[in-house]
Amino acid sequence: MKRAFVFGLIGFAGCALLAFNASGAGGPKPEPPAKATTIAELAERFDSSRCADCHEEIYDEWENSLHARSILGSPRTAPTIITAIEKGLKLFPYSGVKSDDDITVEHLMICTKCHLPQLDEATDDVAREIVATIRGWQQAYRDGDDDKAEELEETIESLNIGCMVCHNKVAFIHKWADGYPQPDTVYGGQEGDHEDEEYALMAEAPALGESIFCGQCHGQGPNFELEHPSQCATAYGSYLFAYVAHGGSESCQECHMEKSELGHNMQSYRDEAMIEMALDVKVESQSLFWRKNKADGVVPIGVIDVSMYNKTGHAIPDG
Ligand code: HEC
Ligand code: HEC
Ligand code: HEC
Ligand code: HEC
Ligand code: HEC
Repeated sequence: MKRAFVFGLIGFAGCALLAFNASGAGGPKPEPPAKATTIAELAERFDSSRCADCHEEIYDEWENSLHARSILGSPRTAPTIITAIEKGLKLFPYSGVKSDDDITVEHLMICTKCHLPQLDEATDDVAREIVATIRGWQQAYRDGDDDKAEELEETIESLNIGCMVCHNKVAFIHKWADGYPQPDTVYGGQEGDHEDEEYALMAEAPALGESIFCGQCHGQGPNFELEHPSQCATAYGSYLFAYVAHGGSESCQECHMEKSELGHNMQSYRDEAMIEMALDVKVESQSLFWRKNKADGVVPIGVIDVSMYNKTGHAIPDG
């Protein structure tokens, strides 16, 4: 009896850390905004260009990151979404997708949950418009129509993880404790008035500086809450279970934004600073002469001993 009680307490204390962290400045759940009915409307709602007027440096950093082209990708992502439709959705007997006309927001969420979470604020027409735009872009490339390809690429890039996705939409994780993001507020580390015309207030979002914030999209494994769980990025899973569990104490933001000095240009192996931070490589070599046999005589041989230590906060590569 007594032991069970003690375990109950310990269990409860562990859970409480996650749940009762209330210091955020969110508010009550707002009315959901009217659904965007076109790509242009959705892009406009989350447009980051105005933020550049006053946050120029941050904007320039962000613009170089893959967050600024989270549907286009490197540009590997957009074509892979089409592959997921052709080789996945259309072949699954119970997905309800036989042609592009059957695609809904829910179908694309197996990717856009992380690549474009704001798609939940759009109608199914927008989901179909995205697919048609990617197909048009691929076709324009095949036809050698560079102007058209470029124009459609811009449309695809207008859909991204912009400032207000992080600083509003996904800024709160424990919403019952910290509140829901409010439509007139940018969330960061300060409270007060904000000079922007649309977001006239700034307030604190406690999770923003924590790894769990990035973990929302950087994945732990299959997304069991979806009708058809998908798995893409798993960096947050390996961060929790292979890095923190072995005493690692730095956050994603400390490595990717501060130490790297890249700020909002969060990068990986494509960037020199990140390559420097990635591995300790130790190479030892030894040369010697070896008497092989009578015919060949003495031959030179080399012994090379390579050891690599992963200094990042997770498995590499990922995604
Ligand atoms: C007219 C100028 C202006 C515009 C436009 C503007 N901001 Fe700001 N913003 C500021 C100023 C000034 C501060 C306060 C900076 C300080 O004192 O550190 C601020 C603060 C912030 C903060 C809080 C920073 C912190 O340290 O907590 C965030 C987040 C932010 N802005 C995001 C945005 C986003 C996103 C947009 C575009 C939707 C935007 N801002 C548009 C001027 C502007
Ligand atoms: C759990 C969130 C999540 C889901 C769901 C998800 N992705 Fe990703 N994906 C990411 C993140 C984060 C990255 C980048 C980080 C990395 O490489 O680990 C990424 C990287 C990628 C890349 C490589 C990026 C590039 O620019 O080369 C492709 C391609 C990709 N995803 C396609 C998809 C497709 C298609 C789907 C749906 C079938 C999907 N993803 C579902 C989070 C997700
Ligand atoms: C992928 C998520 C993400 C995106 C996209 C993003 N931010 Fe941030 N931003 C953060 C995080 C995380 C921090 C806090 C870093 C910390 O506390 O360690 C931050 C901090 C800030 C700050 C305050 C600290 C500073 O560096 O001055 C401002 C202002 C800001 N962001 C503005 C912007 C603007 C403007 C954009 C769009 C151009 C933008 N952010 C896009 C995640 C994001
Ligand atoms: C709203 C979802 C979301 C959030 C929040 C988010 N990311 Fe990402 N991140 C992505 C997606 C999606 C990609 C890949 C885009 C692509 O290439 O298709 C990505 C790409 C990256 C990359 C580049 C990966 C590569 O292959 O080069 C890094 C690094 C990264 N994110 C770090 C972070 C960090 C650190 C945070 C937290 C401060 C964060 N992200 C928050 C979704 C997110
Ligand atoms: C101790 C520092 C450190 C921490 C903590 C850390 N990272 Fe990294 N991360 C790196 C370095 C260095 C690289 C570059 C190595 C590479 O990409 O091969 C990297 C690479 C990545 C990549 C690209 C992986 C790939 O395919 O190569 C993603 C995505 C990423 N980090 C996201 C995150 C997220 C999300 C967190 C927090 C959950 C995090 N990182 C925590 C240092 C760190």
